[in-house]
Amino acid sequence: MARISIHELREMKARGEKIPMLTAYDFPTARIVERSGVPMILVGDSLGMVVLGYDSTIPVTMEDMIRHGGAVVRGTEHAIVVVDLPFMSYQVTPEDALRNAGRLLKETGCTAVKLEGGQSVAPVVQRMVDAGIPVMGHIGLTPQSVNQLGGYRVQGKTPAAAIKLINDALALQKAGAFAIVLETVPANVARMVTEKLNVPTIGIGAGPYCDGQVQVLHDFLGFNPDFLPRHARRFAEVATVAGEAVASYIDEVRSGVFPAAKESFGLDKARNSAAIVAARASAAEAEQAEEEAAPYGGGRGR
Ligand code: KIV
Repeated sequence: MARISIHELREMKARGEKIPMLTAYDFPTARIVERSGVPMILVGDSLGMVVLGYDSTIPVTMEDMIRHGGAVVRGTEHAIVVVDLPFMSYQVTPEDALRNAGRLLKETGCTAVKLEGGQSVAPVVQRMVDAGIPVMGHIGLTPQSVNQLGGYRVQGKTPAAAIKLINDALALQKAGAFAIVLETVPANVARMVTEKLNVPTIGIGAGPYCDGQVQVLHDFLGFNPDFLPRHARRFAEVATVAGEAVASYIDEVRSGVFPAAKESFGLDKARNSAAIVAARASAAEAEQAEEEAAPYGGGRGR
């Protein structure tokens, strides 16, 4: 089966078929996500927070995205893989933006890139699309601008902000974006944007009316038991399961239950030879004890 094409997403929207998308950041998680049937995977710069431990996506570099993007592509065969352009890789000059988007495609093998922003980045999106690079837009809460936005807040709440959001979406569509992420915007605004566009909207914290949904894998799987964003739902408790597994391992190593014969090589042989050695040692000890008790062979002496 060939990789799904970006054009199939538009057909899915036309058929009213919802598009599930998840992030993945490495080979094994990409395999799990794809084998479960997800048609589109995002290597988000959220990896800076959920994998690399930064407190925002701002420190993420092109090298980070290339390393993780390549691993995800190698872990998939069919899914569309979208890789985020990190902060400052597309804002400085259009030439820089094009070169960096091209690097992501060439060096990871991904299908498409994603960047944050609306009307202001539309010309850059157009250049990328003209150069043959599929682009996904991302508007609403744009985490790379967290300092400008003053925190991770709901966007598009006022009528003026909602109109700007719609115009941003239309500008991205006109520039050739094949889909648009709507992050943390009111559900009714996301619905208006979705109805106005021909290309699919993919929501995160944007309510149920988007054409698809995206979630950050580590939120979704419960990697961090102490934090869950309002828009996320835990579909598993991986931290709990993994923590219990590690505790069992510690117990079994300490008690000698692990490793057993099944996890060892030649353990039965080693046990047999240890038993033979032990038997020989105790026979020798017994002989010596006998000799010490009767040094002259048990006779009566001279
Ligand atoms: O980086 C990311 O994971 C994202 C999603 C939140 C859409 O951009």
